[in-house]
Amino acid sequence: MDSFALVIFGITSNLAQKYLMQVLYDMTEEGILPEEMAVIGVARRQMSKEEFQNYFHESLRLENIHHKHAIKEEVFKKLCKRLHYINGEFSDPSFYSKLKLFLNSLSKKGFHCSNRVYYLATYPELYSHVFEGLRKNKLNRQNGGWVRLMIEKPIGHDLKSAKALNKLLLKYFNEDQIYRLDHYLGKETLQNILTFRFSNGIFEPLINKDYIDHIQITASEDFGIGRRGGYYDAVGALKDVGQNHLLQMLCFATMDAPSQFSNDAVTTQRIKILQNLIPLPKNIVFGQYRGYKEEKNVSPHSQTDTFYALKTYINNERFKDVPIYIRAGKKLKQTVTEISVVFKNPVNRLLKNLKRGDEPNVLIYRIAPNEGVVLKILTKLPGYKISLEPAYMQYCYRIDPHKHYIPDPYERLLIDTMRGDQTFFNDAEEVEAQWAFIDPLASARGKQHIYEPGTWGPKEADKLPEEDGRAWLEPSMDFCRI
Ligand code: BG6
Repeated sequence: MDSFALVIFGITSNLAQKYLMQVLYDMTEEGILPEEMAVIGVARRQMSKEEFQNYFHESLRLENIHHKHAIKEEVFKKLCKRLHYINGEFSDPSFYSKLKLFLNSLSKKGFHCSNRVYYLATYPELYSHVFEGLRKNKLNRQNGGWVRLMIEKPIGHDLKSAKALNKLLLKYFNEDQIYRLDHYLGKETLQNILTFRFSNGIFEPLINKDYIDHIQITASEDFGIGRRGGYYDAVGALKDVGQNHLLQMLCFATMDAPSQFSNDAVTTQRIKILQNLIPLPKNIVFGQYRGYKEEKNVSPHSQTDTFYALKTYINNERFKDVPIYIRAGKKLKQTVTEISVVFKNPVNRLLKNLKRGDEPNVLIYRIAPNEGVVLKILTKLPGYKISLEPAYMQYCYRIDPHKHYIPDPYERLLIDTMRGDQTFFNDAEEVEAQWAFIDPLASARGKQHIYEPGTWGPKEADKLPEEDGRAWLEPSMDFCRI
């Protein structure tokens, strides 16, 4: 892998602390960072190099970080050799010439700074200052190396603003330099859906309207918004996770086979699903957990959604009239993320009148927890009598005799960026297709249905499947346990 300089704008942000710093430590421990790579933290506050390294060290030990480690001092020492810091106001044009000089000085010290990744872990309002500052100092040019930009979701807050941001990005960078990041695309459990479906022969022929009754997608969290009130209250559940993570899940489960495993082919298929999704503003229910308005940095009159549930269809032959029910939210009964593909029951099913004899087969992609791919089937309960019980045929990540290392999504996506592989990133068209689906649904947001923490959200959401003679599935914890 090429060496490069990773410049993180907003190194003191929650995002950098919670994800990027942890991942850089992991990658050092695994020895996968290229030799002459430098990490340059950029933020407003004054810090010496040593102070920055201490700040980094403390961040690795913070409670509630994304994943917890025993920090080995010898690993951190290795990481320290790469860690640099420069302070500045992103809106101050003179800062970027200082950054340029700083990068030049690092090159003289043997770091490889002609390849650069700029990671935007800062406020969208500052993006244009950053781009303009880089341009004025020719830091966005690829002279004798490559330059790539990593930018987090959300890209905009609706279709119009997403288009404007894409336009802005393309003014300074080419599409093949822009890595729009949605960490769900970097999840092992999600990427494996593609191999499960397209590298096996027996399931794919069944994934269509002839065999599938409906699909359910759930991303529920049993915790609230924590200290993110300022961000969350302006966004809400539909835009925080619905416009991105949940749609990615839907794409993986329903897209057609890509002609090859390449960025173009895979992204094209994801986009086709997004462009064919039918928004049904009459079939969306929003909710807010009781007590949300009292959370820190939340307006006491807030009408922000902390839950949504919707029904949609894909306008293609393959899934014609197959309903897709999606729900996501905070302070719900359980933390679980999964896709359930519910199969139709054959008319002549044997023993269908027995107890549980009419339970459908369900293919479950469990993203978290108890990660796995599971097929719910009916079996005969062993014994003299004929009675049926559901069982799970399962592939579980945690029960892995080879103890394969499962990289964190941020780690994988950083490596993909280093390699120049955009397969698991969004391009401009994809993000715009997501917003084109979400916008009419977001406009349907009115007064919130209040739900009790620890439930599955407002009861109005149950009506979505019930009106079609179906029900939300209770996520099972009976499989892939260790
Ligand atoms: C983030 C959202 O993008 O994804 C959070 O902003 C949400 O609100 C999180 O909790 C969920 O990610 P994961 O990987 O924990 O399922």
